[in-house]
Amino acid sequence: MSKTEHTLDLMGNWTYAPAPEDSKHIKLNKKYDLFIGGKFVKPGKGKYFDTFSPSTEEKLAEVAEAEEKDVDLAVKAARNAYEKVWKKMPAKERAKYIFRIARMIQERSRELAVIESMDGGKPIRESRDIDVPLAANHFFYYAGWADKLEYAFPGRNPTSLGVAGQIIPWNFPLLMAAWKIAPALATGNTVVLKPAETTPLTALKLAEIIQESGLPDGVVNIITGFGKTGAAIVNHPDVNKVAFTGSTDVGKLIQKSIAGTDKKITLELGGKAANIVFEDAPIDQAVEGIVNGIFFNQGHVCCAGSRLFVQEGIANELIRKLKDRMETLIVGNPLDKNTDVGAINSKEQLDKINHYIKLGVNEGADLFQSSCAIPKKGYFCKPTLFLHASQSHRIVQEEIFGPVLAVQTFRTIEEVIEKANNIPYGLSAGVWTDKGSKIFNMTGKLRAGVVWANTYNKFDPTSPFGGYKESGFGREGGLHGLMPYLKF
Ligand code: NAI
Ligand code: MG
Repeated sequence: MSKTEHTLDLMGNWTYAPAPEDSKHIKLNKKYDLFIGGKFVKPGKGKYFDTFSPSTEEKLAEVAEAEEKDVDLAVKAARNAYEKVWKKMPAKERAKYIFRIARMIQERSRELAVIESMDGGKPIRESRDIDVPLAANHFFYYAGWADKLEYAFPGRNPTSLGVAGQIIPWNFPLLMAAWKIAPALATGNTVVLKPAETTPLTALKLAEIIQESGLPDGVVNIITGFGKTGAAIVNHPDVNKVAFTGSTDVGKLIQKSIAGTDKKITLELGGKAANIVFEDAPIDQAVEGIVNGIFFNQGHVCCAGSRLFVQEGIANELIRKLKDRMETLIVGNPLDKNTDVGAINSKEQLDKINHYIKLGVNEGADLFQSSCAIPKKGYFCKPTLFLHASQSHRIVQEEIFGPVLAVQTFRTIEEVIEKANNIPYGLSAGVWTDKGSKIFNMTGKLRAGVVWANTYNKFDPTSPFGGYKESGFGREGGLHGLMPYLKF
């Protein structure tokens, strides 16, 4: 093995030579138009905005900004496709299109993974092994349900709603598009989808795939823009169903603005998950789960395990092991296959995270950060731990959406349940213990939509996902994920 492949750094850790994923095969247009009625069309007012790579700060492409009129055209295209084609098509024919989209995502998986990492900053290992395969699997899974709805809901005669307006965030751009589009199509609805302004490119690639798949024109429309475009979708009178994933603030706005209409709605909002480790847990496995829960994907996960609760007897050992593991995390180029922690999605998000790190120090928690170097260009944040955090700290109560973990210790089950639930959010939680009975006891008492036991951040299309309290309502994924797109 040559020196350049494997060397010791100053900390005595092994470092790896760069192993970048090739991006030369990626073809991006200079400009992307709006995908409406099966065609790429220019925005009415001719306005475009830039999308950047957060790891290099380079401009990747210009993307159309949809105004109210463009939104109206997209909704009209979706309505037309719904009434004339999609609603009438036999379900097993609909399924074939959904299945074809899944296959095409698989065929173009490498390209999609590289673009996802370029545009959003997440490590290629993650976009390649998680985002893209899961996106394809969601289409496969819901293709299977399309002609079996009467068996999913026996005796209830489910029917489609019409046009679904779907707005998604920047943390899982392609996967969130799949979560939204696949069940809508399987249930016979048509779609107007808006990706987030910092990560529009894989959704636009998906538009190309959809065009190539031969899906009837207007069944899926993908339009780009900022919050204003999203609001225009939500408020369009001919939209029957709104599906939103993003911040709790915007979720509340959306809920207010559709009050008094008969639009159906699902909201998947923020989180502040408790990852709870008992004394009888397998400690090394738990450390890996904690790292996976908050540091991989830069903590840009609504269900990130951002609060750690450790039972007192193992606190010292676990924290020592966690710090050691943090020192080995590789932060940097998202396209490098060795990278564990990629770029923060935007300058704004990095500023927000740094603001919370300062706040945590001022609140009196003990700061520990990996000693790794971070690239000079781009938006990066070191994996960060706050020890001796307390329940009243803002770093414990508020969603940071970055690689920042607040640690508390506990003595009894009652105490940890009380603390874990005493928060405005309720999306997910993790429990680490050797005892099955303890897991069942905890899952019943934790107010969280998803509870992982001895693992973390595991996703599967067959499993429903969603929150309690300010984390939103409605479920996506699994059989449950069909319901918000149906009336009975
Ligand atoms: P955001 O909620 O503003 O953006 C999410 C999506 O909603 C984007 O497509 C955006 O264009 C759209 N949007 C914005 N304002 C809208 C409006 N009034 N009506 C309709 N659509 C609208 O989230 P942002 O600003 O990107 O991130 C802010 C914070 O939100 C993050 O720091 C994080 O804490 C949280 N967040 C949570 C996510 C989750 O999955 N739970 C995902 C992204 C952000
Ligand atoms: Mg970008």
